[in-house]
Amino acid sequence: MSNAVSSLAVPAPGSKASEPEIRFEHVTKTFGRSESDLFRAVDDLSLDVYPGQIVALLGKTGCGKSTMFNMIAGLLDPTEGKVLVSGRDPFRNFDWYRGKIAIVFQNDRLLPWRTAIENVELGLEMLNVPGAQRRETAQRWLSRLGLGGHENDYPHALSGGMRQRVSIARAFATNAGLLLCDEPFSALDEMTAQRLREEFTSLVRENGKTAVFITHSINEALQIGDRIVVLKRPAKIAYDINLTADLGSAEKEAIREKIRDVLSA
Ligand SMILES: Nc1ncnc2c1ncn2[C@@H]1O[C@H](COP(=O)(O)OP(=O)(O)OP(=O)(O)O)[C@@H](O)[C@H]1O
Ligand SMILES: [Mg+2]
Repeated sequence: MSNAVSSLAVPAPGSKASEPEIRFEHVTKTFGRSESDLFRAVDDLSLDVYPGQIVALLGKTGCGKSTMFNMIAGLLDPTEGKVLVSGRDPFRNFDWYRGKIAIVFQNDRLLPWRTAIENVELGLEMLNVPGAQRRETAQRWLSRLGLGGHENDYPHALSGGMRQRVSIARAFATNAGLLLCDEPFSALDEMTAQRLREEFTSLVRENGKTAVFITHSINEALQIGDRIVVLKRPAKIAYDINLTADLGSAEKEAIREKIRDVLSA
């Protein structure tokens, strides 16, 4: 089986030609109140993500996925090593990334006092996009995500799946090149999640974006990623595989088995 799996590895898209969009260089992140009471959430992790990749970061609960996510988003500083996004340090250049990174959180994080369209417009307001253009762009993305007719609904009047679509529309409307998603579909029923995953991957590909998608579901990682990075606690890479678009079901099954083995070892 290991042969079958390794033969599926293909070069990462653009890996030789382009600079990584995200680079972790020997990154360690510890949490703690004192020198003697430190918890290692990420341990000497090195990882490059290249432009155009959709990387599924897969790992069990508590293995450090959100900690990595927060370091990419510039919300946390590594304790040791370096995180670079587009060649810069996201923690020290937080404002530079405005409009360049869009985030879809695990819960939709919509503002309850703003309608669907006003929520989508939020990111555009922060980028100082003029009103009419803002509205037109927000409208287009809401329609694209099947929410035409719900523009003026408040979040409380929308279902969980619809709210999550509003948050995807908000992420795409800003036209950021890098999308970060932290288990955005984990609270939805499987059918809805499946549909949104398909919409999400085709939107990322059509719009030439790079995406990091965090999940603890093997199925979701296989459906979303063109590369899967499996993490083991404390966030350390246990398996890293590029998937071809034309994977057969037997090959997919072999990868699924391998991931299962890695996660249970
Ligand atoms: N601010 C913090 N202070 C102390 N410990 C923290 C902090 N943030 C995270 N941790 C610890 O670091 C570890 C990794 O947490 P993290 O949230 O990154 O996990 P995760 O992989 O995202 O898990 P989940 O799948 O449950 O979301 C956990 O043991 C957590 O308790
Ligand atoms: Mg998490």
